[in-house]
Amino acid sequence: MSIDSNKKPLCVAVLLSGNGSNLQAIIDAISHDRLNISIELVVSNKLDSYGIERAKRHGLNSKVIERQLFSSKQDFEQSLSQLLNSYDLDLIVLAGFMLVLSKEFVTAFSGKIINIHPSLLPKYKGLDTYQKALSAGDEYHGTTVHLVTEELDGGPIISQTKVLIEPHDTVQSLTQKTQNIEHKLYPLVLGWLANGRISINNNTVFFDNKPVSQTGIPNEL
Ligand code: GRF
Repeated sequence: MSIDSNKKPLCVAVLLSGNGSNLQAIIDAISHDRLNISIELVVSNKLDSYGIERAKRHGLNSKVIERQLFSSKQDFEQSLSQLLNSYDLDLIVLAGFMLVLSKEFVTAFSGKIINIHPSLLPKYKGLDTYQKALSAGDEYHGTTVHLVTEELDGGPIISQTKVLIEPHDTVQSLTQKTQNIEHKLYPLVLGWLANGRISINNNTVFFDNKPVSQTGIPNEL
């Protein structure tokens, strides 16, 4: 992927709660000059998240807003939106952000929030997707990048990638395999957003100006 150095970078905030391996994959893609993206801010709702450590190490702006310091979800989200609105952001990237955002919050940032979810959506929304796929005896698991709408893990699919489930797989091994793919898929999708191949209008995703099918943009990963 080449970058047009005259083009303004896509300005994003990354929201996370934990390890931040997806943040790391995005940082690595930017630093290898593959992504015309500027991470303006990294926000965590957890004080001890390793993702914040990663942000600091790379000299990125970071901020912790702990949910439990607010008496209501509404107050927490108000503080979060005030912070986000103080930046000129094109996109909010959820990367392991473990709080469910309210309809009001999502509506306020409509068409500007994306998420990565470890399943082949619409299968297995919510938690424990690896165990669910193994218990169901599925042939494939996978990961999905989607637009965030008020329905949990239910927004339009931008792109998804399959992972073969092998007989010896456990939750741990399947997690590892799926996350290895996530670390390629999220930068790929962000690259498409940064170079204008993906556009979003009225909660509809377009790729090269054509509406994307229900299963998202095919990829070669
Ligand atoms: C990822 O597997 C993502 O799909 C899910 O949360 C996990 C976050 O992992 N939403 P990390 O914090 O990026 O390592």
